[in-house]
Amino acid sequence: MCGIVGYVGPRDVVGVLLDGLRRLEYRGYDSAGVAVVNGGRVLGSKRVGKLANLEEVLVKTPLHGSAGIGHTRWATHGRPSDTNAHPHLDCKGRIAVIHNGIIENHAALRASLVKKGHTFASETDTEVVAHLLEDLYTGDLVAAVRETLKAVSGAYALGVLCADAPDQLVFARNGASPLIIGLGDGETFVASDIPAILNYTRRELIVQEGEVVVVTRDGATISTFNGAHVQREITNINWDVRSAEKGGFKHFMLKEMYEQPKVVKDTLVGRLRTDGSIDLSELGLSESRLRSLHKISIFACGSAFYAAAYGMYLIRQLAKLPVELELASEFRYSEPVLDKNTLAIAVSQSGETADTLEAVRIAKEGGASLLAVTNVVGSALARTADATLFMQAGPEIGVAATKTFTAQCVDMALFAMHLARVRGTIDSGTLDGLGQALRDLPSFVDQALNVNDEVVPVARRIAPASTMLYLGRHVNFPIALEGALKLKEISYIHAEGYAAGEMKHGPIALLDASVPVVVLATKGPVQEKILSNMAEAKARDSRIIAVANPHDDMAIENADVVFTVPETHHLIQPIVNVVPLYLLAYHIADHKGCDVDQPRNLAKTVTVE
Ligand code: M6R
Repeated sequence: MCGIVGYVGPRDVVGVLLDGLRRLEYRGYDSAGVAVVNGGRVLGSKRVGKLANLEEVLVKTPLHGSAGIGHTRWATHGRPSDTNAHPHLDCKGRIAVIHNGIIENHAALRASLVKKGHTFASETDTEVVAHLLEDLYTGDLVAAVRETLKAVSGAYALGVLCADAPDQLVFARNGASPLIIGLGDGETFVASDIPAILNYTRRELIVQEGEVVVVTRDGATISTFNGAHVQREITNINWDVRSAEKGGFKHFMLKEMYEQPKVVKDTLVGRLRTDGSIDLSELGLSESRLRSLHKISIFACGSAFYAAAYGMYLIRQLAKLPVELELASEFRYSEPVLDKNTLAIAVSQSGETADTLEAVRIAKEGGASLLAVTNVVGSALARTADATLFMQAGPEIGVAATKTFTAQCVDMALFAMHLARVRGTIDSGTLDGLGQALRDLPSFVDQALNVNDEVVPVARRIAPASTMLYLGRHVNFPIALEGALKLKEISYIHAEGYAAGEMKHGPIALLDASVPVVVLATKGPVQEKILSNMAEAKARDSRIIAVANPHDDMAIENADVVFTVPETHHLIQPIVNVVPLYLLAYHIADHKGCDVDQPRNLAKTVTVE
């Protein structure tokens, strides 16, 4: 995925573009570039690497113009380099193009354009768009864009500027590449995501698939690819501007971890009544529909998949329904068996992960109803779903998910409890106990953050490790997976999350004094078992770092280090337990000097297969 921005208006155009790109850098940071129209010419600058490299160039050689576009790249076609950075130009240098997504038929288009005499400067799929526009442009940029869109296939958000149109930008969207327009007073902003324009306006138009937008300083006109006018309502965004700032924290990831108590609270508001009962009437899935279900099929990617796995345990145990869980990237090729009595649940923070969206298409084709668990109103996933459970996590800028994982788990717990109540599979005592645990959750997550100071020296000691193992059982197994993923992502230390009972079937061979083992050993029905697994690891000289409840002598005696977290209902406990694992990964990565918010090779949202 990449980030794109555009601006037409009286401010310093490049300043606005760079400000937007800074807030979109989480979407890709292999290279960055801008282009502006000035005096009938297109002027641009682009640099491989982080935005700072481009900013340095622009300080030395400033650019000014009346309208401009900007891009921050996560490389797909063509390695990260100055020439592969966007914007891309046509042969005459009069049309500039930025792009998020993939032009699938780029190879055939490139071959035919080369035959016609076009010269390509880059290895990217995007550049074909600039040359196609050059061929089709006869003085009307919008008409040329429409003709170009007929020739290209794939998923994209495209932005175009032309030397002949000093106060106009043209954008188009196809597939799951988000695009929003920010409406100001005599100025208009364009971006891939809300944080890029939150500083300037909260009045936004969400561009949908199959739409072309003509942007001027007076606003934006939306039409379909065929030219039919589209009337779009303005969406007022209520996200706090500060939520897209670091607010004194060293990294976004650290700040976002500290936002977890608030995110949990916000995700529960209006859904958990004071008497502990759940109100999910917002779902729009009737109780009779929920009672008629024969099966639930959940899919997601990455951290969202682990939140989905946590949900699987809860739904199966509380609502007594068969639950299938699959990685979205596998689901799409596994010929899943679904019907109208299946509820498919897609979990995705961004709501734009390509694999998840394709799995959604297949699930719907199979006749299943779709529940989306997502953080982004207006995302492709939210718009496709029959029912939506939003996370209320606000923008997450750190590439490694933290607060959105917590919010996903809370949503899954709420849904499992709601489903169980509706289906009559849960007794009131259990429901009350879980309701109380959710009420306590914001404060317990907050208390769990208090281990921070204890985590720092431990992180320093184990930072030289080259492999770590994370063990959990039952509902804590997904937390072990999430802890290991976080460590891999941001510290580049190899880590495996394992179901503790599986350790003896293979991974125990890895263990010796050089391999720290993190064990989720809080109270619950499988605690004795996990304590035995902890002893097995200790007997192989591994250093044991346990997450345990206070005064739990058994856990404390057997571990080298214990991070204590408040005790709650064992089914809700994982949402508290993940907190020290996040802190541990963070401090190890920070100690190693890693780029915590923008780890190498990653992008926040993966909009390609
Ligand atoms: O936006 P999504 O929740 O669909 O994203 C899914 C994964 O790409 C994401 O969770 C990824 O694994 C993160 N880097 C985890 O930190």
